[in-house]
Amino acid sequence: LDNGVARTPPMGWNSWNTFGCNINETLIRQMADAMVSSGMRDAGYQYVVVDDCWMNPNRDASGNLQGDPTRFPSGMKALGDYLHGRGLKFGIYQAPLDKTCAQYFGSYPGATGSQGHEAQDARQFAAWGVDYLKYDWCSPSGTINDQVTTFARMRDALAATGRPIVYSINPNSIHAKTGPQRNWGDVANMWRTTEDITNAWDTGQTNGYPMGVKNIVDVTVPLAGYARPGQFNDPDMMEVGRSGMTDTEQRSHFALWAIMASPLIAGNDLRSMSTATQTILKNPRLIAVNQDTLGLQATQISYDGTRRVLAKTLANGDVAVALFNQGASTATVSTTAAAIGRSGSSFTLQDAWSGATTTSTGAISASVPSHGTVVYRVSGGTSTPPTGTTFVSAASGRCL
Ligand code: DGJ
Repeated sequence: LDNGVARTPPMGWNSWNTFGCNINETLIRQMADAMVSSGMRDAGYQYVVVDDCWMNPNRDASGNLQGDPTRFPSGMKALGDYLHGRGLKFGIYQAPLDKTCAQYFGSYPGATGSQGHEAQDARQFAAWGVDYLKYDWCSPSGTINDQVTTFARMRDALAATGRPIVYSINPNSIHAKTGPQRNWGDVANMWRTTEDITNAWDTGQTNGYPMGVKNIVDVTVPLAGYARPGQFNDPDMMEVGRSGMTDTEQRSHFALWAIMASPLIAGNDLRSMSTATQTILKNPRLIAVNQDTLGLQATQISYDGTRRVLAKTLANGDVAVALFNQGASTATVSTTAAAIGRSGSSFTLQDAWSGATTTSTGAISASVPSHGTVVYRVSGGTSTPPTGTTFVSAASGRCL
């Protein structure tokens, strides 16, 4: 979506993965403070996104949305001011039909979706200082055409406010799960590619609930042609720093999100991050790969069912290469400079985790532990026509 924002994948934090409905303004403020004191903000994380359950179950007499008076007694504008005062940006959640997901499933009262209130709600968000809207399709009914019309209505309402607002949509309940994948680049800045992530490596789902990290990668890799500045596939908030995966798996998770040009939205409790978690989430070399201004998603160079090689061309001509071992034991994962579109006889490979550099005449290879991902930034040589997926125009609205 060409609305001036999300020229690189948005980075931030979202309340849902760790806290679900158990949110309030004290918690969000603490998280904002932790974002600053932990160095996450300075590493690039900006948006603090308040997910479902922030609302008063009822609109006011004029039909305006209001914050839950118990959980957010100071009001949503005050929360936005607090975030802005710390150099952060304010993200909020809403649903396009009659209810939010938590209201739909009965875990939170009310029925406050934006249907019929789009312009009014967009103006309200802008007045509160909202910089990012997560718009979450919850009803299991509706067609893809219903979704396009409905999501586009809020896109236009946000544009009419004149405030730059990242537009993040989740069509997961129907379309991404059951149908062909649509390129939503004409509608939103980012769109979920699967059902919800959970704190696990592999749930065995191909696109049902819940999805493990490895399962989401399987679905999102083929969608590379949709990513460009202003429009990114969204494989969901991260589970780094929670308890369901090994350190190797969490590193893979982050490395793969980075190279897939995915929004980097942390989902852990930032107040109590281990050093290992911080080392992953703040890795400057992987963040640089993710935030590269070309805004390309890595394309698949090879995959044998176990060993997967992905490559992302960067603005300065370097190529980031992920060597991902999905198998159950350590394996050598390999590609070549030629396969990633570089010709020449001398290359420098920088390991994104250690920062160490090595030289190569063309081989790009590593011994990778089970579920691990080695990422090299490859420089040197000259560019040959790039391999992999070509960009799919959003205007075509095409489904894969
Ligand atoms: C479903 C979404 O996929 C989640 O990320 C979260 O926003 C919940 N809805 C909230 O109800």
